[in-house]
Amino acid sequence: MHNVHKLIVLCLVVGAYSDEHNHIYGDNEEVILWMNTVGPYHNRQETYAYFSLPFCVGSKDTINHYHETLSEALQGVELEFSGIDIEFKSNVQKGEYCAVQLNEDKYKVFVYAVKNHYWYQMYIDDLPIWGVVGEIKDNNYYIWTHKKFEIGYNGKQIIDVNLTSEDKVLLTPNVKLSFTYEVIWKPTETKFEDRFDKYLDYNFFQHRIHWFSIFNSFMMVIFLVGLVSMILMRTLRKDYARYSKDEDIDDMERDLGDEYGWKQVHGDVFRPASNSLVFSSLIGAGHQVTTVVFCVIVFAILGELYTERGSLLSTAIFVYAITSPINGYFGGSLYARMGGKLWIRQMTVSAFMLPAFVCGTAFFINFIAIYYHASRAIPFGTMVAVTCICLFIILPLTLVGTVLGRNLAGQPDYPCRINAVPRPIPEKKWFMEPGVIILMGGILPFASIFIEMYFIFTSFWAYKIYYVYGFMLLVFIILMIVTVCVTIVCTYFLLNAEDYRWQWTSFLAAASTSAYVYIYAIYYFFFKTKMYGLFQTAFYFGYMALFSGALGIMCGTVGYVGTSVFVRKIYSTVKID
Ligand SMILES: *[C@@H]1O[C@H](CO)[C@@H](O)[C@H](O)[C@H]1NC(C)=O
Repeated sequence: MHNVHKLIVLCLVVGAYSDEHNHIYGDNEEVILWMNTVGPYHNRQETYAYFSLPFCVGSKDTINHYHETLSEALQGVELEFSGIDIEFKSNVQKGEYCAVQLNEDKYKVFVYAVKNHYWYQMYIDDLPIWGVVGEIKDNNYYIWTHKKFEIGYNGKQIIDVNLTSEDKVLLTPNVKLSFTYEVIWKPTETKFEDRFDKYLDYNFFQHRIHWFSIFNSFMMVIFLVGLVSMILMRTLRKDYARYSKDEDIDDMERDLGDEYGWKQVHGDVFRPASNSLVFSSLIGAGHQVTTVVFCVIVFAILGELYTERGSLLSTAIFVYAITSPINGYFGGSLYARMGGKLWIRQMTVSAFMLPAFVCGTAFFINFIAIYYHASRAIPFGTMVAVTCICLFIILPLTLVGTVLGRNLAGQPDYPCRINAVPRPIPEKKWFMEPGVIILMGGILPFASIFIEMYFIFTSFWAYKIYYVYGFMLLVFIILMIVTVCVTIVCTYFLLNAEDYRWQWTSFLAAASTSAYVYIYAIYYFFFKTKMYGLFQTAFYFGYMALFSGALGIMCGTVGYVGTSVFVRKIYSTVKID
């Protein structure tokens, strides 16, 4: 019933206030001040609905609550109408809009909020506005009661809003707080397209460090690409050398192990990976994640998505849903090539692996959020919507992809035959063990991205608007190249030690990047943030686990795909005796 109600409200909102969406206002047209959330300044993701504090609502009554989109609900946006009367280009003298009679409880709540440096967020015409609740002075708690809005306009559009809090009142039980506001409209020359510029922190994002890190990673790419092409050329050249009896053995060769080490395992390299069902599902999901990340970054560059609430997440959900066939295609075809028969089970695992991971974490955090009454608690209707997307969009599309993949690319076409009996894996030095190689594999990819990680974490946890998606795209591409090169080198060492279990090793060697990212996230939590409390800690580590997990699957897949091209290439030159 509640949800139906919400839906009707939502339709009304869309019908009645379309000027919020085209951002065009006529003179004296209503401008809505939406109250969003309130929360501790140092815990910026811990937010509660504005009216969870005993603030009062103005006398103007309109719709009081709505979640416009799925992603706004997921991100804890809680827009509620303030009841404050604002009209386009019409100044309002200072005057009371409502009053609160404090009792013991309300007094305590306000004191708590002021003590924890609570601040609140509002929206006018999609522009965020922040204000602090109160101030502590000499162990006395004061609350700001006057809001002065200075709104800049250009033609029929709102360009910027400045809020000044005035009139401190000492909080004492049983006092009556009178909340006042005033509105001053000022013409400005700034263009509508540039109105978000004042929220962007150029000094932070365009810092020399940022450019320097990109340059650094770029150098690493050149070095690694050089290394890989050298390995590739040497392995291929040696074949010619064998025919022409042209002996030119250099020192590198002895260091890299037995001369023909990797050729010994030609009868086993294309043996299906162990747990091929899980493996192919991971690879399928990885293809999808990689595509989604790439598309979202490109859309963010083209569409300046940061100017609209929640649009980045909406785009991500949408792109994720429609790219499900990619998951099915690559996962299903790989599973078929590995001779798997349980293809329906594989498809289900593949389709629901990430959604389950995300929902599981979200569910866990949700319980804590509900306990704290935080606005991060996901409404029931939203959960139903997410489940429907999974069942009725993602699953059928994955099925389509799987069927296509199995039929179009399901035949194994390996350059070498697979021996009937697996070859025993010889003893080798400790640093050639897959476990060690996996741990080493993540270091360079992590090194190429960790400065960008700092910027991404900071924008997410400290409310800086991330807008340098061009940088992000560059880092993404660099990460992909570094990951592929590193896994190729790792696999080359592994195969030279006559260990043919390269599929999982290459996947995990690349995926271990995410372990380093998570360790970095732990460091970031303790040294760069001032978060506290169970809710915030669970929220931070839960979402960081999601982020690292997705990153790991993405890197792992890219590493595996690059390596399988490499393996195919070098073994296609082997003459089978
Ligand atoms: C808001 O504040 C900024 C910085 O102080 C100022 O440049 C701008 O003109 C102000 N806008 C309005 C509408 O007063």
